[in-house]
Amino acid sequence: MFPRMQFYRLISIFGSFLAGTWLPLRMIGFTPPLVFEILFDLSISVVSAVNIYLYFKDNELDYRKKKYWKRIPVLLDLLCIVPFSLMAMFHDSGSSFYYLLLINLLSVRHIKNIRKFMDGYPSIHPVTFRIIPLLVSMPLLVHIVSCGWIALGSGTVGNDPDQTLTYVRAVYWSFTTLTTVGYGDISAKSIPQMLYACCIQVIGVGVFGFILSNVAAILARSDAARNHHMDNLDKVETFMNMHRIPDRLRNKIRTYYHYMWMNKKGYQDDSLLQGLPSKIQSELLLFINRSIIEKVPFLKGADPDMLSELMNQLATKVFVPEEKVFKFGDPGDALYFIQNGEVEIQTKEGVSIATLKDGAFFGEMALISDKPRMATAMSKSYCDIYVLSKESFEKVIASYPQFKSHIHETMEKRKTA
Ligand code: CMP
Repeated sequence: MFPRMQFYRLISIFGSFLAGTWLPLRMIGFTPPLVFEILFDLSISVVSAVNIYLYFKDNELDYRKKKYWKRIPVLLDLLCIVPFSLMAMFHDSGSSFYYLLLINLLSVRHIKNIRKFMDGYPSIHPVTFRIIPLLVSMPLLVHIVSCGWIALGSGTVGNDPDQTLTYVRAVYWSFTTLTTVGYGDISAKSIPQMLYACCIQVIGVGVFGFILSNVAAILARSDAARNHHMDNLDKVETFMNMHRIPDRLRNKIRTYYHYMWMNKKGYQDDSLLQGLPSKIQSELLLFINRSIIEKVPFLKGADPDMLSELMNQLATKVFVPEEKVFKFGDPGDALYFIQNGEVEIQTKEGVSIATLKDGAFFGEMALISDKPRMATAMSKSYCDIYVLSKESFEKVIASYPQFKSHIHETMEKRKTA
């Protein structure tokens, strides 16, 4: 069900929008049928009451305590409840009274509730989160500024008979002034217009900064991974220059970073997982590691609990070409699964015994026999390898006999090869 507070927030946003569009129009003499006028004005009063309710709820204040009713936000909303524009309509000297409806315009500030409303939807994309408030508040501001400009004579001395053109010209003036572009083709002629233009230019500096910072943040976020990678590259280049690293080694380092970018978008999976609850971590790991599960024959269709446990224990490592994963005689401390790449198994003298590819595992013999490595494992290309530590390996084989028997089967075949 739609939560109650969200419903009130929606009303508050709607009310801000109504006040922001309707009241300025009213000020420049736009007159809809009387019934709409009354309806709009009363809606603004009702929404102002809702805004007071939201203020008390959001700040967890007790409405029975008088002192809270003296706070400025509450007083402003109390003022907005008074339907000044309706009073103007029925007052004899109505036209001078109309300026009072600017007071009702104060309720437009609640347009900021749009952020709190969106907070209720955690799956919204961060870019959308920034764009929507901008898309809603900018046109509203331009509309209000434009109506103010029209009320002051639109940069002309007399009245323009074409109202649509007058409005469009005012919007054009507002946009160029608020964004500090200011072409100057429509300019202030009278003193009130000049003073108004000065105020809007000052607001414009803030608006311009606001738009610029939001757009910059959206652009930066839209390609956060690439920016992160570029930052890393800059640091690495500075480091290499500082230490006068030879060209051959520089190229190796650059190729490594390029590989990391192409395959992992510059991020090591593990770092992003920390901080997530373990249940979501397991689910995420199963998804991220689905390729290894697909590639290793005995993991395909294996017990989901076993897979989950295995994925929690696996660590990823990247090996560059010609790098030794381990060498003959090393103690057996881990089992390795190849996700991508080629690993050559070599004798002590460097003669190739076998070449293992995606989905193969190696390093099981030393773990099972508790003897040193009987061969060297050397990467032949860039390799993404999953490492299962000895302790984790022992835990998994103790709990899941089918895992143990598969490893044993492969080991026996290799021994007789
Ligand atoms: P381990 O002795 O721990 O370290 C070297 C590894 O090379 C060994 O475990 C096996 O996983 C692997 N290996 C040994 N012989 C072969 C073979 N004939 N084919 C494929 N892999 C092998």
